[in-house]
Amino acid sequence: MAKLEASDAVVFGISIDSPAANNAFAQKIGVTFPLLSDMNRKVLKEYGILKMYNVQKEEYDWAQRTTFVVDKKGMRIVFRMSSNPLAASFSPIPQLDLAAQYAAVGGELREAVERVLSSQQFILGREGAALEEEVARLCGVAHGVGTGSGTDALVMALRSCGVAAGDEVILPPFTFVATGSAVSALGAKPVFADIHPNTYNFDLAQIERRVTSRTRAIVVVHLYGLAADMDPIVEFARTKNLPVVEDSAQAIGAGYKGRRTGSLGDVACFSFYPTKNLGACGDAGMIVTNSAERAARLRTLRNHGQTEKYVSSEPGWNGRLDEIQAAILRVKLRHLAEWQRARQAHAAEYTRHFSQIPGIMPPLVPEGYEHVFHQYTIRVEERDKLQRVLTDKKIGSAVYYPVPLHLQPLYASLGYKAGDFPHAERAAQEVLSLPMYPELRPAQLARVAEVVTEFVRTRGGSTLREILPFSKSRIATYSNAATPPRRCRACAAVKI
Ligand SMILES: Cc1ncc(COP(=O)(O)O)c(C=O)c1O
Repeated sequence: MAKLEASDAVVFGISIDSPAANNAFAQKIGVTFPLLSDMNRKVLKEYGILKMYNVQKEEYDWAQRTTFVVDKKGMRIVFRMSSNPLAASFSPIPQLDLAAQYAAVGGELREAVERVLSSQQFILGREGAALEEEVARLCGVAHGVGTGSGTDALVMALRSCGVAAGDEVILPPFTFVATGSAVSALGAKPVFADIHPNTYNFDLAQIERRVTSRTRAIVVVHLYGLAADMDPIVEFARTKNLPVVEDSAQAIGAGYKGRRTGSLGDVACFSFYPTKNLGACGDAGMIVTNSAERAARLRTLRNHGQTEKYVSSEPGWNGRLDEIQAAILRVKLRHLAEWQRARQAHAAEYTRHFSQIPGIMPPLVPEGYEHVFHQYTIRVEERDKLQRVLTDKKIGSAVYYPVPLHLQPLYASLGYKAGDFPHAERAAQEVLSLPMYPELRPAQLARVAEVVTEFVRTRGGSTLREILPFSKSRIATYSNAATPPRRCRACAAVKI
């Protein structure tokens, strides 16, 4: 940025608390006239300056590249910093802002809850039945069965596949622990198979090697909101007569070759945990399937194995979805498509910032897929350091997941060791999920992107390019996003 002349601006930055910092800042940006360090708040008010910015040392660089000019018009100072889009960067930016969503739809939610309270029907009523139909329709399948949580959904779906004690179930190690603990809850043995490093989802070649005579099912996770490459997995599973369970906890509404998650395997599970793209105000989940027979069995399983009132045909438990959560979810479901578009637009904008920076791997979206960005997860070296920088600047971020399942103490007895699943292990060290929610403001996004970019640029070289086997045919496409991103150079440079 061209240095400002003294006559161009009267105030550039104000540090009420520290005149010394003010002077240092003035020197740094090449402004020689006295800043307003000696002006007290009263004077600032008199001048009509409503918004004050305390320039911190580490923000010099940012300030230098940012135009927040203050004009002098007669005796009045027009302080335009507040109209600068980056002004929003001074307040904390959370990784997820559920309060913003509640501010937008709170009235509708309260009405829905009131409707249930007035009906006094709290379990297995109209709201749950309607939600089951609506979610099944969204997925393009015939049946939905509401459950108490995504974990309940997984346990029951696996049971409906005949999984029992002693069986083996193949699943990826790079997922939330619930995918594995649902298998363990049935006394079955989780058998892990590595992920593909560019999508973080299952890799068929890895699955094939793990099938034994004891394998009873395959659980495919659609991580972060991106569908796994299901067709080859389902085709392979058919040849082995194995059912495929989709763990779609993070991917409601995600697209795969013209179909939606939930319709891609034999049975699929959703979580409506509050932080999910479709989140309840408590725990909730759902199973969807095209099989009427399986759906009937699942309805029995979630309700103590009862085939009719007080008559149980097999051991089940209480895995039901309650009416208040169902009513809340029906409200939010009406907004889901719009929220999804906002997430996709944010993702496209993040990727526009990152795609030309070799040290950052943005999420990839293979041709024919629609990512719903439950998370916008980048990959960087020195991830923990970047996270500390973000935290210092009051920017939220999260690591999903720092410890792959095969290295969890829970599974120590299975005998896996570090190095068994290199892609999952490396991802666990390098992934970082940035702030992502429909209500994320452009200024907030720009601030996050700037801090991340700055960090990666200053740290220099990266080995991401050399290690990750990206194929040109798998370069990101954002068919539904507002701004298509440019090609990811880090990805394009590497051939399989
Ligand atoms: C991939 C995955 N599977 C399963 C679950 C379990 O869902 P819930 O927390 O609703 O039991 C979650 C969510 O937490 C998840 O992210």
